[in-house]
Amino acid sequence: RYRGVIFDLDGVITDTARYHYLAWKKLADELGIYFDEVINERLKGVSRLQSLEIILEKSDKKYSQEEKEYYANKKNEYYKEMIKKITPEDLLPGVERFIEELKKRGIKIAIASVSKNAFTVVENLKIRDKFDYIVDANEIKRGKPDPEIFLNAAKHLGIPPAKCIGIEDSAAGITAIKKAGMFAVGVGNPETVKEADLILKDLSEADKILELL
Ligand code: BG6
Ligand code: MG
Repeated sequence: RYRGVIFDLDGVITDTARYHYLAWKKLADELGIYFDEVINERLKGVSRLQSLEIILEKSDKKYSQEEKEYYANKKNEYYKEMIKKITPEDLLPGVERFIEELKKRGIKIAIASVSKNAFTVVENLKIRDKFDYIVDANEIKRGKPDPEIFLNAAKHLGIPPAKCIGIEDSAAGITAIKKAGMFAVGVGNPETVKEADLILKDLSEADKILELL
């Protein structure tokens, strides 16, 4: 039935969602702004500057556009330092096996990440050549929850959206997949991905996706 699988990267293929959190937490602490893992759920899947806007909701201070760019960049420097040490060992449970199974069945696969650091992460994980297509975040005009990024991936795979499965750990991402007209699989925090068609702990349970193919 399905011929394509489109993966989010951060929090689905590897635990960079954790590094994004730690980098924002470091910045928020420096600015004296309250930030915790509950607020962090809203940052998942959302662009760097939009993430900063969510963090600044807890601050009384007004930040200029210039300051916002400065702090977003500062967070990114912390994040880049953290992702330097990523290796193939950092693939989340079940990811490698799932990809091999999909390839065996002739299913096309893509990555749809809004992260400007996606290519570095993919290189460090040494999975670049496994994917038929990786979306370039710079080409995407509207971030998740807009379906653009998933539709762009399906187009490049040459597969109609209705024949694609999208996998996400963020609420914005699940909305984007549904709006794209694809089947949505949610991993990670079940509350965050509650709108998904299928909810898994992680891809060690990917046999449940293979059953749908
Ligand atoms: C998404 C993450 O994949 O990428 C978000 O879920 C992050 O948390 C976004 O803000 C943008 O990433 P980057 O690397 O461009 O700051
Ligand atoms: Mg994610």
